[in-house]
Amino acid sequence: MNQIVIIDFGSQYSHLIARRIRESQVYAQLEPPDISPERLKAINPRGIILSGGPASVYGDGAPHCSPEIFRLGIPVLGVCYGMQLMSHLLDGKVVRSERREYGHALLDFGDNKLVRGLVSPQQVWMSHGDVVEQVPSGFCLVGKTKDGLAGIIVNEAQRLYGIQFHPEVVHTENGITIIRNFLFDICGCTPDWTMDDYHQRITEEIRRTVGDRSVVCGISGGVDSTVLGKLLHEAVGERLRCIFVDNGFLRKNEGEQVYKRLKAGLGLPVELVDASEQFLSALQGVDDPEEKRRRIGQIFVDVFFKTAGNFDFLAQGTLYPDVIESVSTRGPSATIKTHHNRVQAILDLIAQGRVLEPLRELYKDEVRILGERMGLPKEMLWRQPFPGPGLAIRILGPVCREYLDRLREADHILVDEIKRAGLYEKLWQSFAVFLPVRSVGVMGDERTYEQVIAIRAVESKDGMTADWVRLPYEILGRVSNRIINEVKGINRVVYDLSSKPPSTIEWE
Ligand code: XMP
Repeated sequence: MNQIVIIDFGSQYSHLIARRIRESQVYAQLEPPDISPERLKAINPRGIILSGGPASVYGDGAPHCSPEIFRLGIPVLGVCYGMQLMSHLLDGKVVRSERREYGHALLDFGDNKLVRGLVSPQQVWMSHGDVVEQVPSGFCLVGKTKDGLAGIIVNEAQRLYGIQFHPEVVHTENGITIIRNFLFDICGCTPDWTMDDYHQRITEEIRRTVGDRSVVCGISGGVDSTVLGKLLHEAVGERLRCIFVDNGFLRKNEGEQVYKRLKAGLGLPVELVDASEQFLSALQGVDDPEEKRRRIGQIFVDVFFKTAGNFDFLAQGTLYPDVIESVSTRGPSATIKTHHNRVQAILDLIAQGRVLEPLRELYKDEVRILGERMGLPKEMLWRQPFPGPGLAIRILGPVCREYLDRLREADHILVDEIKRAGLYEKLWQSFAVFLPVRSVGVMGDERTYEQVIAIRAVESKDGMTADWVRLPYEILGRVSNRIINEVKGINRVVYDLSSKPPSTIEWE
């Protein structure tokens, strides 16, 4: 299989480079800056990409890779920091620019393999404070921004390339052409990474590993665990058990619906465990969000392992962004998820070789494609993400049954209206948050003194950054009216206008 290695220097876009390459049907994986030339030789990639990153190449503790990498005979493309590092490690010169360049820029360039098929000038996206002042020997400066700064450097003989802009972001209009020129013309890749191949390969691998032994997995009805359950069931049949722990923090009617869909709809061997009392009592009086998460995580593990009893393998729906070693590209949410998949009991099983993570090479959109190939219904694959701790982290402070009931009703109304408006699948998430403050209102002739619901709707690609959505006023108005009229104890609805960063998607 053709492969590209991306050495990750901590850019928020490193994963995006990998995704763009995979969309071109070439497999790409991220590796840390200290990857050895020997390991690279063993991986034997068709090409190497040095990602962007927040550091300055000459700064203290700036991540560097081995300069040997440029002598392996493998084509290298340095992007932003990657281009500066290549210049710095060879004999070029990188200096601090007089002004930071951020945003759109126009790039003038002459003919070369990277930009073949594109007409100069091109709109590109920049984000850097340093510039390559002098290119390394053997390199030509073939592209410049309107301000005269180095935009593209090339050493054709050694197949080393550098670009100061980001081809992976949509703001670089023809960035994908540049990536494909690198993959197909320069590295000689063929497009051989398809979900059908992956499906077949991973199914065989699961069968080979499991043999005639047993597998247990947790299932929640979310995209990842549903695809995981279906994949395992196809691979090992009745040797699979799926455990669905109802923690009592699910949305309205969600527990029964999910159970029915998985069991009757997909024919999966699902066991439903109602542990809601146990979860609720463990959270009594707890108001710290991290402590809530810790307790929920702990009880989940206790209930799950008690129900599972004896088994040979545990399967988890861990995805690619959660497993790569580079800490720098992870946002707080990825850390949280990793934490859930890496509690001590699971680490012990990993050490014994008893954990299967068949989705570990995939991004979420690829998991959805895999699910489609396996014939899973659309409404299962395009559900909005829902956090493991559920409604418990959407009630600020201590959780109680009464608050849960109010939030459940309000959330149901919001999602209902969003679906009616045809927006559900267009949004990353849309949900209600319960605020345990009280404000004064008037209903009929009566004064009320009741609580508040906040509405949150965000757009995002991967949950790491997010933008609040400009929902039409009519929808907001209808949702607000319905919540105040239909949910007892709520007399005010507010809309959350914050993006991530600096806020997070969830309120806790
Ligand atoms: P934040 O709030 O960190 O959320 O911006 C980013 C994404 O992660 C989800 N999220 C969680 N998922 N357990 C989960 O499984 C958690 O504790 C958790 N906290 C946040 C959140 O819904 C959003 O999609």
